[in-house]
Amino acid sequence: MHFAICTLFPEYFDSPLATGLLGRAVGDGVLTVERVNPRDFTEDNHRTVDDRPYGGGPGMVMLLDPVLKALDKVERNGGRGRTILLTPRGKPLSQDLTRELAGEERVTVICGRYEGMDARLGDLVDIEEVSVGDFVLSGGEAAACCLLEAVGRLLPGFMGHEGSGDEESFAHGLLEYPHYTRPEVVTDERGSELRVPEVLLSGDHRRIAEYRREKALATTWDRRPEMLSSAPLTQQDVESIRKHRAESPKPARGRNLHLVLAHYPVLNKEGQEVAVSLTNLDIHDIGRVSRSYGLGGFYLSTPLEDQRRLAATLLNHWTGGAGAVANPDRSEALSGVGVVESIEDALHRVRERTGRDPLVYVTSARIAPEKRRGGKRKRTEEPETVTIPQVAQALDARPVVLLLGTGSGLAPGVVRAADAVVRPVRPFTDYNHLSVRSATSILVDRILGDTD
Ligand SMILES: C[S@@+](CC[C@H](N)C(=O)[O-])C[C@H]1O[C@@H](n2cnc3c(N)ncnc32)[C@H](O)[C@@H]1O
Repeated sequence: MHFAICTLFPEYFDSPLATGLLGRAVGDGVLTVERVNPRDFTEDNHRTVDDRPYGGGPGMVMLLDPVLKALDKVERNGGRGRTILLTPRGKPLSQDLTRELAGEERVTVICGRYEGMDARLGDLVDIEEVSVGDFVLSGGEAAACCLLEAVGRLLPGFMGHEGSGDEESFAHGLLEYPHYTRPEVVTDERGSELRVPEVLLSGDHRRIAEYRREKALATTWDRRPEMLSSAPLTQQDVESIRKHRAESPKPARGRNLHLVLAHYPVLNKEGQEVAVSLTNLDIHDIGRVSRSYGLGGFYLSTPLEDQRRLAATLLNHWTGGAGAVANPDRSEALSGVGVVESIEDALHRVRERTGRDPLVYVTSARIAPEKRRGGKRKRTEEPETVTIPQVAQALDARPVVLLLGTGSGLAPGVVRAADAVVRPVRPFTDYNHLSVRSATSILVDRILGDTD
């Protein structure tokens, strides 16, 4: 495979291309690398490769002409092949992408410097923009080394023994299992022995493979749970993760999340503050969500006595009456539903349960009208908007109540008294009027997902 690197610092690569497995691969011809310097294609005395950005601002921008000429040279030398511009604005470099690139005969990598390239490069040359992570380097050279090494080690002949790439992290959508080598026992500073897991000494290849799969799944669950949503999993894998989750000392965030469905004070269509009646579907659907996601509690609040009686009748039917016998799953979900007179009563119950004052986050279909930055909020102002990751993070430290409004939404006084408004679901479309039970399901799933 042939790599061309377009860089203002060709010497940067002297050591990486001469060291370790990459050095050997270059020596053996598994990989050939050509370096081109845009500075060699400048025509002025200062050999200028950058200029000030239009529109002002700090830093300099790389000139198009020297880079285009450097790329032309690569083209004449045998072709550019797939051409990659390294930039933090690019798509993330992944194991899938490195595998794709390892299948190419020629790849050209352009390293930026300063504030990066003139944006028109992409209009003039067919390039893919790639980033090596959500951080900013001073130049693309370190990023190019990552790409070269990650692609190179997938080439036949690179690693000496084929197949090691198949076992590694990301190869099957999981992080890799842990490794051990000699000695069999090491002693820590308190004198405790740290032994290599017995199964790895057993010589039983089936048990070793099972152990490694379990460890890969558990490590992925603990460190990069989001990877599990796209990893291919068998039923046995699912059981293994379930077992690991049950044994994990890490408390599930969902235990700190509480739902309060308020039927007063809410707005009607005319904008008046009213109490609205219960909706049977809300009770069933939100009750099941609460149970499925392992939430701390789900409370219905209504000041209307007949509505509370109605709720009690419904809940009794499903939790103690004929319904419980016919449908035990539903009984399990509905037995966690509490009926209270007011939002304050619900908050009191959460305080009793957790021993702490909960943060109250209200939900709404619209973005809060004003944005506050720091300082104390006036009583007349709406609270700040929080995003889903902020809600998830808050759950690590405090109980949180997600306050859900019925009717045409929570009364303004309730919103103003809250700690924050959660950014609505589907804010970027012209219609996002979901039922409260749908919005609740979506919000809870986005906050906790499958890996809480
Ligand atoms: C200082 S950076 C420019 C950052 C740019 N102004 C921005 O904010 O997106 C200079 C060069 O380093 C390289 N670079 C920096 N961070 C990178 C990353 N995370 N992935 C790939 N290349 C990166 C790019 O080639 C970039 O043009």
